Amino acid sequence: MPAKYRWWQSGIVYQVYPRSFQDSNRDGIGDLKGIAARLDYLVELGVDAVWVSPIFPSPMADFGYDVADYAGIDPMFGTLSDFDALVAAAHARGLKIILDFVPNHTSDQHPWFVESRSSRTNAKRDWYIWRDAKTGGVPNNWVSEFGGSAWTWDAATQQYYYHAFLKAQPDLNWRNPDVRAAMLAVLRFWLDRGVDGFRVDAIHHLIEAEHLNDNPPNPDWREGQSPARRLARVYSLDQAETHDCIAEMRALADTYENRVLIGEASLPIEQLMAYYGKEAPGFHLPFNFHLIKSSWDPQVIAALIEQYEGALAGGAERWPNWVLGNHDRSRVASRIGPAQARVAAMLLLTLRGTPTIYQGEEIGMADVPIPTQCLRDPWEKNVPGLGLGRDPERTPMQWDASGNAGFTGGDPWLPLSSDYRAVNVEAQRTDDRSMLSLYRALIALRRREPALSVGVHVKAEAIGSVLTYRRFHAGRWVTVALNFADEPQMFSKPVDQDAILISTHLDRVEPERGNAVRLRPNEGIVLAAA
Ligand code: NOJ
Ligand code: CA
Repeated sequence: MPAKYRWWQSGIVYQVYPRSFQDSNRDGIGDLKGIAARLDYLVELGVDAVWVSPIFPSPMADFGYDVADYAGIDPMFGTLSDFDALVAAAHARGLKIILDFVPNHTSDQHPWFVESRSSRTNAKRDWYIWRDAKTGGVPNNWVSEFGGSAWTWDAATQQYYYHAFLKAQPDLNWRNPDVRAAMLAVLRFWLDRGVDGFRVDAIHHLIEAEHLNDNPPNPDWREGQSPARRLARVYSLDQAETHDCIAEMRALADTYENRVLIGEASLPIEQLMAYYGKEAPGFHLPFNFHLIKSSWDPQVIAALIEQYEGALAGGAERWPNWVLGNHDRSRVASRIGPAQARVAAMLLLTLRGTPTIYQGEEIGMADVPIPTQCLRDPWEKNVPGLGLGRDPERTPMQWDASGNAGFTGGDPWLPLSSDYRAVNVEAQRTDDRSMLSLYRALIALRRREPALSVGVHVKAEAIGSVLTYRRFHAGRWVTVALNFADEPQMFSKPVDQDAILISTHLDRVEPERGNAVRLRPNEGIVLAAA
């Protein structure tokens, strides 16, 4: 790999959702020792970094995104020494560890909030966002992301507090310098322990407009969509001052060597660009969720890639990234179907920009229907029946055909997919056409061909049902052609691109002498000079 690129530019990130990765103590919930036991699998897959969703002490109202102690490990996941052992074991294998940092809100059980709510004159009162009732009730019309008012009344102190998410997740007041200092100290705590970076949660929620005016209605909202989206969140999201806070996080991270900050903000591309930094550097990688949000249509995806590349070109230090799924969104194999999921894998792993793989994507795991009595996600419980619940994409990793797919010897916290005896790592490892084999081959190819990992991107376009683009590095061209259709398509290939390096069907690596290649239904190929 050309040395001038950082690991987070040339590498691949793998997201572990710890509750569902591997249980080691039969309580039905994944844990740190479980992750450590599976590191060799991640090495075999070929990824570079493991982002672990929250593992800190938490009442688990939002499954760890409600943190009660930023400098500890929830006993459910293990201990600080288990964590140190995991970092050491990962580093020994050349893997980086990225933690989840949740700066917008704490748990309502966090000692800071317990103090803050104890009285109006408490020193930590201003660490959260407290307001008097307005005539008629709540301070404004803001709606929580998970449904209901974003304000909860505290009877003891006769004020409301603000929460962008659950009422068990009160928002911190980032305008208070002591809050900023305390949260930067959290980053320092983990950086000193050797973590290689952070995925920073819900960053566009960090600061609210000081006037707290009502948000206007969103004219694009339709019945059946999330209630929070009824309003255009102009005063509660994406406020300018957020960038000063991010710049402080970045300045701190930059005092360490080789660390990465990845920001989570689901925003349109133009707004997202500011998260790379305005006056001062911001995130290395503001997550780009647009492959999840866009319809799976070659014209739409080509336009998206060009729009994103065009926007990135407006700033020198903007490295791209792409994501097909995570613990908050319906799995890609369910959204677009298993055949196209292979095409999506090729897209993810041949585009310019750091790919993030969500656990289970690499074996084609699909959303799992959750019987009512097994529902866990508070969003589904608060706003039932709209398909907002996130349990289906959070079910346990399918390792093998044994009981509970080898995930746990106990009772799994969420049900397993009924297909796990067929769809699992063990079965796919020895099947040289499996999804796992495809991921491994694509990752290996990306590693072998710098044009794919760090090369420039040249023009995505859709020709009929075929999405095509080229990558270039150090005199070497690579061409990608992806058939989005369920029927064969002819693809006129560039002259000189005579060798198929890989097909999503994993059955042909051959020279193509003619001017055109016949792509089979749902087939993607990567071509280069023979
Ligand atoms: C985004 C996280 O990915 C999601 O799981 C969580 O519920 C919210 N942020 C609130 O922290
Ligand atoms: Ca466990």
